[in-house]
Amino acid sequence: AFVLAAVLSASSVHGALDAKIKAKGKKSRISILNTEFGAVTPENAMKWDATEPNRGQFNFGNADSVANWASSRGKFLRGHTLVWHSQLPGWVSNINDKNTLTQVITNHINTVAGRFKGKVYAWDVVNEILEDNGNFRNSVFYRVLGEDFVDLAFRTARAADPNAKLYLNDYNLDYNGPKINNTVALINRLKARGTPIDGVGTQAHLIVGNLAPFDETLKLLASTGLDVAITELDIRIAKPVDSAKLAQQQKDYATVTTSCLTTPQCVGITIWGVSDRNSWVDGTFPNYDAPLLWDDNFNKKSAYTGTDNAL
Ligand code: XIL
Repeated sequence: AFVLAAVLSASSVHGALDAKIKAKGKKSRISILNTEFGAVTPENAMKWDATEPNRGQFNFGNADSVANWASSRGKFLRGHTLVWHSQLPGWVSNINDKNTLTQVITNHINTVAGRFKGKVYAWDVVNEILEDNGNFRNSVFYRVLGEDFVDLAFRTARAADPNAKLYLNDYNLDYNGPKINNTVALINRLKARGTPIDGVGTQAHLIVGNLAPFDETLKLLASTGLDVAITELDIRIAKPVDSAKLAQQQKDYATVTTSCLTTPQCVGITIWGVSDRNSWVDGTFPNYDAPLLWDDNFNKKSAYTGTDNAL
């Protein structure tokens, strides 16, 4: 089934909505999520620093909020993410022996994936494990365990939640030759070893007017035989934003949506946020703006129309 999804931050679940927007009677982030999307991904609540800040000490307050919101609204929930070099507590990155790290990864995945067993339709088991040049990122996981950490993560996740679809997720799979080629090669090695992997996610943090042949990259990912998902879509605009760039953004969202719909293995698109008011782009790419489907005042943009018409 094709599912349009959006990221959900725990703060919106807790009702920390902009009072002025609510008072004006405009749609809020949470009500838009409820009416327009079929699935959610927690933006930060299931990451390692949020769930296991100290060894063996687990916190699920925010993660539970998002999961409960999803189940009470009948939304699919995408788990994000089990093994990632970023938002990783220092006590993990400082481990330098194989036995300890193996135990730590196993316990983390058992506990986190175990808690949401049966509630998560797909997990991003590993996230951003290759560099743009196609080599493995020099994370603690790769430094200490080599490529085996990937197999360990998938095998442990499968045992912890046998019905969840297990994904490898990464960015710059839309632009970069060596990175996408080595991702496909890695997936083929995992499959040849019998490692349980079901899907490949392309984050798709894109730039308006700069879409490489998106269709081809999806087909290349689909050549692995796995499910393919667009997991963190946003299409940011180089400042200053003007009407021509917004019109191009409308086209670009339509292009991505059509690419997924015409790739049989593409199961869905998750958009990394709802309103331009609350996007990670503001902090991470200060020269860019307005990446999402709703504007700062929660009004639908032409990007929404582009997506909607393509669906
Ligand atoms: C981002 C969140 O949106 C921010 O709130 C946080 O400060 C940093 O992480 N790739 C990913 C996501 O896999 O988890 C990142 O999310 C964006 C890039």
